[in-house]
Amino acid sequence: MEKTFIMIKPDGIRRGLAGTIIQRYEQKGLKITAAKLIMVPEELACKHYEEHVSKPFFQELIANITSGPVLAMVLEGPNAIRLARLINGPTQIEEALPGTIRGDFATSTTENLVHASDKPETAEREIKLWMSYMNLA
Ligand code: PPS
Repeated sequence: MEKTFIMIKPDGIRRGLAGTIIQRYEQKGLKITAAKLIMVPEELACKHYEEHVSKPFFQELIANITSGPVLAMVLEGPNAIRLARLINGPTQIEEALPGTIRGDFATSTTENLVHASDKPETAEREIKLWMSYMNLA
């Protein structure tokens, strides 16, 4: 069993896609073990995306995830980290194929609906960070 951190971003909540997105993970056998709808403080947003601080899109990234509530979740299952990334589809919008969440619904590389941890160390760091902010630790 493996755990991963997932966030349905503000564009996903605004567009009423939370139920559809959750269903895709659940249909593949991933189980929700924690979830909370929260407004992301700028401090948490910057910590979450700290590896991208020097990228040209950093400000846009922070502005996007602080623009409205996000649904932060921990999902558990066999190969949860890789599976959630496959269900999401690639970051770059033009590479996201139909059948993936981004391929079916995303409108840009920034407004791409979902985040999922990319590797075990990241999942561990993100789950710890978000659980403590959400008082779920
Ligand atoms: S990269 O470019 O390899 O560092 O991309 P990646 O590690 O997959 O994740 C980058 C996160 O930044 C968001 N983002 C963008 N990425 C690339 N280009 C542009 N213009 C851009 N704008 C925003 C992207 O959605 C990734 O966010 P998460 O939440 O991790 O999916």
